[in-house]
Amino acid sequence: MGSAEENQFVARFEGVALRYERGPEILRDVSFDLKSDSFYFLTGPSGAGKTTLLRLLYLSLKPTRGSAAVFGHDIAKTPRDRLPDLRRKIGVVFQNFRLLEHLSVFDNVALPLRVAGIREEDVRRDVAELLTWVGLKDHVSVPTPTLSGGQQQLVAIARAVVGRPKLILADEPTGNVDEAVASRLIHLFQELNKLGATVVIATHNHSLADRLGYRRFNVDGGRLWSETTSDTASPRAVAGGYRRDMTAIGNASGTGAA
Ligand SMILES: Nc1ncnc2c1ncn2[C@@H]1O[C@H](COP(=O)(O)OP(=O)(O)OP(=O)(O)O)[C@@H](O)[C@H]1O
Ligand SMILES: [Mg+2]
Repeated sequence: MGSAEENQFVARFEGVALRYERGPEILRDVSFDLKSDSFYFLTGPSGAGKTTLLRLLYLSLKPTRGSAAVFGHDIAKTPRDRLPDLRRKIGVVFQNFRLLEHLSVFDNVALPLRVAGIREEDVRRDVAELLTWVGLKDHVSVPTPTLSGGQQQLVAIARAVVGRPKLILADEPTGNVDEAVASRLIHLFQELNKLGATVVIATHNHSLADRLGYRRFNVDGGRLWSETTSDTASPRAVAGGYRRDMTAIGNASGTGAA
């Protein structure tokens, strides 16, 4: 894949199928492109394969059939030792958070930067800034199990975005918070999108996805199709500034404003 195409598309899937070991095909004949700097929702019933699709995008599964390229690399053919480099460009908010319970909030968020070998001085600055930004500055040194579900979700999101990934995959990132906090979290993703990240949000929250008007992919019965005809993202509810949104998140989640 040429570099121009690599720059235009973050991912290109063509006729992709996926089965787990000897099980049935969870996905079959799935084709779609993710354009750079775009924003997508991924919807579909429980068990339809949303998380599975995100795992393919995160390079933790290889397709059983078809071709899947991420950042211009065919993921079935990319050597294992190249994967960490590619994964560093991807920030993932896991459905069940996957926070490290023995580490503090700060150390959880710092982890991707430390793994990437960033200078500790820069790690401290970036992590402190981001945690203030999401309204968790009063909770930096506590272990994550002492936080509420919604606060843990914020930590998981902070960890996913701290390394300024080109692709953000968020699996049900608003599943543990009320509608007000959910809207503000979406604003955070919108701001990161404006700063140049491609965002994919898997959610059961159809009304949220419909209201915002971004391109929506729906997965059901092993198939994926686009719910919108236009390829252009047309955000309907981008409002407010970065700081204002973050302050609002802090307030709404009861964690103290930045
Ligand atoms: N590691 C695995 N091994 C075997 N089967 C799996 C595995 N992970 C998921 N599955 C199966 O794949 C199907 C799709 O699961 P997936 O988690 O992708 O759905 P989902 O759309 O994310 O659901 P939800 O909305 O509940 O999160 C399910 O039938 C599930 O049982
Ligand atoms: Mg899922």
